[in-house]
Amino acid sequence: MHRRQKLPQSGGSQMSHRCTATATEPHGAIRPHSVRCEVCVSGSLTIVGLGPARPEHLTQEAVQALQAAVADPHSWRVYGLAHARALAEAIAPGLQIRSLDYLYGLTGVDRPLAYADLAEMLTRRAFSDGHHVLYLVAGSPLFYNDAVLAIRRRAAAQEQAIRLIHGMAFLDLVLDRVYWTGHSGLALWSAWNVAFDGVALDVGAPTLLVQLGEFGSSGDALNEDRSPEMLGKLRDRLRRQYPADHPVLVLYSSGPPEYRSEGRRIELSALADQPVPVYSNLWVPSIGGPDLEATLAAPSVRRMVDPLSEVLS
Ligand SMILES: C[S@@+](CC[C@H](N)C(=O)[O-])C[C@H]1O[C@@H](n2cnc3c(N)ncnc32)[C@H](O)[C@@H]1O
Repeated sequence: MHRRQKLPQSGGSQMSHRCTATATEPHGAIRPHSVRCEVCVSGSLTIVGLGPARPEHLTQEAVQALQAAVADPHSWRVYGLAHARALAEAIAPGLQIRSLDYLYGLTGVDRPLAYADLAEMLTRRAFSDGHHVLYLVAGSPLFYNDAVLAIRRRAAAQEQAIRLIHGMAFLDLVLDRVYWTGHSGLALWSAWNVAFDGVALDVGAPTLLVQLGEFGSSGDALNEDRSPEMLGKLRDRLRRQYPADHPVLVLYSSGPPEYRSEGRRIELSALADQPVPVYSNLWVPSIGGPDLEATLAAPSVRRMVDPLSEVLS
């Protein structure tokens, strides 16, 4: 059933129409038309940053988007990888999320190709098929997320606007265990760029190397046993610029459910001596910088303090 509704645009005489088409479900309920109709507005694509770890890291905007999708499952198509799904399900039980984990299981398909394919699929679902698509990602969509980059570029090429719901980035958790002064800046690189692409660091500024525990550009990114392979290559590269006893901080997450920010301080020469968890990073203090920036910071306390019970106990 289709009805076109003429809507005056704000401040102008131009008219546009809004689709008020509905479809009747087998059980008789009426739901909004979710299939593209050529005279109507198309679907939409929303990228939702869910925060890097615990459910309470989500923004209110992200929570609202998830709750809207639970309340009206016929109108939304929700996609996400494993970590994002776990976070979303904690906030919005019953949310139907289409898994994208197959992306990491495709033999012979490297990540760039898999992400290009994902971007093509999501933009087609939204802008050609007319679905309202939610793509759930962990952390901030804007930090080291090649799939999001591919989606944004593809949508821009099609002159389609996407909605971006920002999320807290992993950086907030990681910086919890260092004392970054900011006095000589901060460099941010993927450990892979240094280990395999020959990127040299600026030794006059601290550097945060991310993706320390993800072992490959394809295959099972969550296998931490393979991490010493890359750690050895990284150590050898860094040794070209830093002395063997240069202090470095391995900064990682304790994982679910607490996702505590953990860290250990070692000498660069010991970098490959033991595996690191998947969500790991390396803080490389500058040469000649303040000792403070080479110190492992004390963990912050997570629990809320009840002043009254503190006084009574
Ligand atoms: C591909 S990046 C995506 C980051 C994401 N866009 C964000 O803003 O959180 C994944 C890397 O972020 C870091 N990371 C993600 N979650 C983390 C956490 N809970 N604790 C520490 N590092 C984390 C790790 O270096 C991991 O390899």
